[in-house]
Amino acid sequence: MVLCTPNLTFTLYRPFGYRQMFTANAANVQHMLKTHFSNYRKGDVFRKTLKDFLGDGIFNADGDNWKFQRQVSSHEFNTRSLRNFVETVVDSELADRLIPILKNAAANKIVLDFQDILQRFAFDNVCKIAFGYDPAYLLPSLPQERFAVAFGSAVTLISERFNSNIPFIWKIKRALNVGSEKQLKIVVNEVREFAKSIIKEKKHELQENTSKESVDLLSRFLSSGHSDEDFVTDIVISFILAGRDTTSAALTWFFWLLYNNPEVEIEILKEIKETSEGTVYEEVKDMVYIHASLCESMRLYPPVPVDTKSAVNHDVLPDGTVVKKGTRISYHPYAMGRVVKVWGSDWKDFRPRRWLEAAEEAAGKWRFVGKDSFT
Ligand code: HEM
Repeated sequence: MVLCTPNLTFTLYRPFGYRQMFTANAANVQHMLKTHFSNYRKGDVFRKTLKDFLGDGIFNADGDNWKFQRQVSSHEFNTRSLRNFVETVVDSELADRLIPILKNAAANKIVLDFQDILQRFAFDNVCKIAFGYDPAYLLPSLPQERFAVAFGSAVTLISERFNSNIPFIWKIKRALNVGSEKQLKIVVNEVREFAKSIIKEKKHELQENTSKESVDLLSRFLSSGHSDEDFVTDIVISFILAGRDTTSAALTWFFWLLYNNPEVEIEILKEIKETSEGTVYEEVKDMVYIHASLCESMRLYPPVPVDTKSAVNHDVLPDGTVVKKGTRISYHPYAMGRVVKVWGSDWKDFRPRRWLEAAEEAAGKWRFVGKDSFT
């Protein structure tokens, strides 16, 4: 079906009088996420639906609580933390776990579920930055590690609350403690109890060794004076959720696209061979073609394909769309990666070169040219 929406925004009318707006217009996205940020919140429906799992963690927070968590979390993304993360956590997860498993599978012609492998890889990495804890989920035996399994079930079950044709049916099931809601309660308890045991251990560790620099997010929050275990648990759960499926989905699509586009794989291998010098972090910085390929992969298959906010007050978007107070409005990265006006008529093609331009100084050298972040 081709939907004709010249301003890239439309309203979906759903049963029971629910309305939801969707936009793929970059100016509207900038308006929602930056210039009029305070008017576009997570909103009550979202917050109440996710509260049992996410509590008041950053994914389920607005206002001052959101701001505080955002400020502390942002340290995890500065250059120093990222370098440390890449050179210690990711590098050892690659060298000691992912690569040996793949090498062994290749040598013995074993078929692997690569998506499962990449989810395990992402889970180990993100637990190490969130908690400073290694769940060792990516092992050759493919263990059913309890925390990882409970976390995965909790994400699936809480997401089902949004998918039901009859909204709020989950509330009835929860009140009666039956079916998926009964199961959800069990797995959420398991996740939270486990998180709390790690927090207790970490508190103890920090008291014993006050001079040690905090690198993981949990130590950072505990060192900033926040010792309430429920709140710190909320924080850690949102962070694991943020990093777990996003990175594994990004990598799964990336390798699937490489498999279907061998000419890109050849270019990538060439770049890796040409840039293997210096530390891992330095090497990665110079790999412009790989950077372009990852952007191109996430353009076509964004790990967060749609993100929904709720309008606090009446508003008018830059494209002229009127947004009534309380409306749920989603920006849609999956649709945005398919806009002909932005990407051209070859938007369907996986073409990393669209993110590169020739560097003037040397022939055959490329420079990465990004888009503005809202596009
Ligand atoms: C390919 C990987 C990733 C993608 C595509 C991605 C994408 C996104 C998107 C679309 C949002 C919502 C932004 C908004 O609504 O304003 C978000 C939020 C967030 N992400 Fe990621 N993410 C990725 C990886 C990660 C990782 C690895 C971490 C942490 C280890 C992380 C931590 C967060 C946090 C804490 C937030 C909440 C920010 C806030 O509410 O202010 N993300 N991410």
